[in-house]
Amino acid sequence: MDRRNLLKAVAVGAGTAVWSGGRALAQEHFPVSVNENLWKGINRPKNPEHKTAVEAAHVPVITAPAKVKAGEPFDVSVAVGKVLHPMGPMHWIEYLQLDIGNEPAGTVVFRSRGYLKPETKLTVVLDEGLAGKTISLVATVKCNLHGIWQHYVNLEVA
Ligand SMILES: [Fe+2]
Repeated sequence: MDRRNLLKAVAVGAGTAVWSGGRALAQEHFPVSVNENLWKGINRPKNPEHKTAVEAAHVPVITAPAKVKAGEPFDVSVAVGKVLHPMGPMHWIEYLQLDIGNEPAGTVVFRSRGYLKPETKLTVVLDEGLAGKTISLVATVKCNLHGIWQHYVNLEVA
């Protein structure tokens, strides 16, 4: 194998290890079968109006006003699942992250003991420079068994 093919093989192997790492860890530490397809990237509902059972349990539900004013605080609630996802030592939500467009705004980290339910209420203030634009609030969550899930809502900023 020449140097070029060796480097290519190492790069492909490293990428595969990163993507399958979450699934492999979940299967190693928990005696359950894990759907490999859920660990291949970020999961989103195929049809948001008709979610499958696994989608309904993991897709973040974002509650926010449709119109907001730049510089004024407003409340955003994010819950994991239409019915809250379970929280326990075998199966739990590891984190919930809110992004303003592509910019991370903050992350809530949960532990497996189940003291906290996988939902949060945040107060957001958007920069004055966003006035007149439409922005996306993007919520991303990670389940220890079912991978990373994401959903968003759009807001008009006055
Ligand atoms: Fe889950």
